[in-house]
Amino acid sequence: MKAFIHHGEPGLAGVRLTDVPTPEPGPGQVRIRLKTAGLNRRDLRVTRLAKPGDPPVVLGSDGAGVIDRVGEHVQHLHPGDEVVVNPSLYWYENSPAPPAGHEILGSPTDGTFAEFIVLSAEQVEPKPTHLTWEEAGVLPLAALTAYRALFTRARIQSGQTVLIPGAGSGVATFLVQFAKAAGAEVIVTSRSAEKRRRAEALGADRTIPTESDWLAELRGERVDVVIDSVGAATFDQCLSVLRPGGTLVTFGATAGDEVRIDIRSFFYGQFNLLGTTMGSRDEFRAMLRFVTDRGIRPVVDKVYPLADAGEALRRLQDGEQFGKIGLRVE
Ligand SMILES: NC(=O)c1ccc[n+]([C@@H]2O[C@H](COP(=O)([O-])OP(=O)(O)OC[C@H]3O[C@@H](n4cnc5c(N)ncnc54)[C@H](OP(=O)(O)O)[C@@H]3O)[C@@H](O)[C@H]2O)c1
Repeated sequence: MKAFIHHGEPGLAGVRLTDVPTPEPGPGQVRIRLKTAGLNRRDLRVTRLAKPGDPPVVLGSDGAGVIDRVGEHVQHLHPGDEVVVNPSLYWYENSPAPPAGHEILGSPTDGTFAEFIVLSAEQVEPKPTHLTWEEAGVLPLAALTAYRALFTRARIQSGQTVLIPGAGSGVATFLVQFAKAAGAEVIVTSRSAEKRRRAEALGADRTIPTESDWLAELRGERVDVVIDSVGAATFDQCLSVLRPGGTLVTFGATAGDEVRIDIRSFFYGQFNLLGTTMGSRDEFRAMLRFVTDRGIRPVVDKVYPLADAGEALRRLQDGEQFGKIGLRVE
C-alpha cells in the first residue's frame, strides 16, 4: 500500500510517499481503508524529534474511513462500517491524567497517512453522519483536545467569557465553535487580520491583534477563562487578562516551551493554571455526541492528495492555515 512516512534525516527532509506492506488485523483489531486523514502540529514534531537510526514511521493521528477487515473476537464492528479513528491510545475511562502507557497514534505506532491502518477495535468509533469524509478525517485529535480543555478542565459555563489565543490554529477553531455552542462569550487573538475576520465569521464575539496590549484592547475588562496553546509568545498576556480566580488551561507551546511567571501577581490573583492533553475515550465519545447534537462541522482549511502530504506539512509549518488541513487518501 502507499504510505507517507518519516525516515532518516530529521524534519521535512526525511518525509516521503512510499510502498509498505499492507497490514493484516490480528485478534481484537480492525483494518480501515482510509478515505481521509488530518494534519496536526504533532506530525511536524514527530519528524523534528526523529533520531538517525529510528525505524520508519507512517505519520498521522487523524483519519476516517471504512472498515474492510476485522480480526478474531471483534463483535461490534463489521466490514463496511464508516468510522473515525480515536488517536488517544489506551486511555478509555475519564481520569485526571492519562494512564501509564498512554500514546498518541502516529509514532511510535504507524499512523493514518496511508491507504490502510490496523488498529484495536477499541480505538474506532462510528463516523458522525452529518460530516463529509474531509470533515470527519480532520476531527479527532484537535476536537478531542478542545473538548477536554474546555469542558473537563476549564468547566466552562454559559455566560462566561473565554479568550483563545491563535485563532488560526486547528484546535482554536474547535474551541471557538464549542465555546459558542456552550453559551460562552468568545474572544480570540490572531496575528492575521484575515484570520481575525474568519474567526468572527465562525462565531467569535470579539477579536484582538496578537501583538497588541490585550488588556488595553479589552478596556480593562478581564476574562473568566483563557485556553492557550501558543505558549511562550502569549503566556504573560494570557495571565494579564485573567480575572481574579480565573482559569488558564494550557495544552500547547507552538511559540516556545519556557515562560517566567511573576509568582506574587499569580498568587494574589488566585489564578488556576491547568494543563491538559488529548482526552479519554469517554471524552472522545462525548465530543462526537456534542458535535452531532449541535451540528458542528470542522473548519477545513485545505485538502491535499496523500502524495502531496509534504506540501500540506509545509503549509502547517508556515502557519498559513485557518482550521484543519486534510489529506485525501482515496
Ligand atoms: N497536548 C495536546 O494534546 C495537544 C493537542 C493538539 C495540539 N496541541 C498543541 O497545540 C498547539 C496548537 O495546535 P494546532 O494543531 O491547533 O496548531 P496550528 O494549527 O499549527 O496553529 C498554531 C497557531 O499558533 C499561533 N502562533 C504560532 N506562532 C505564534 C507566535 N510566534 N506568536 C503568536 N501566535 C503564534 C498561530 O495563530 P495565528 O496565525 O492566528 O496568529 C497559529 O495558527 C500546538 O503547539 C500543538 O502541538 C497539543
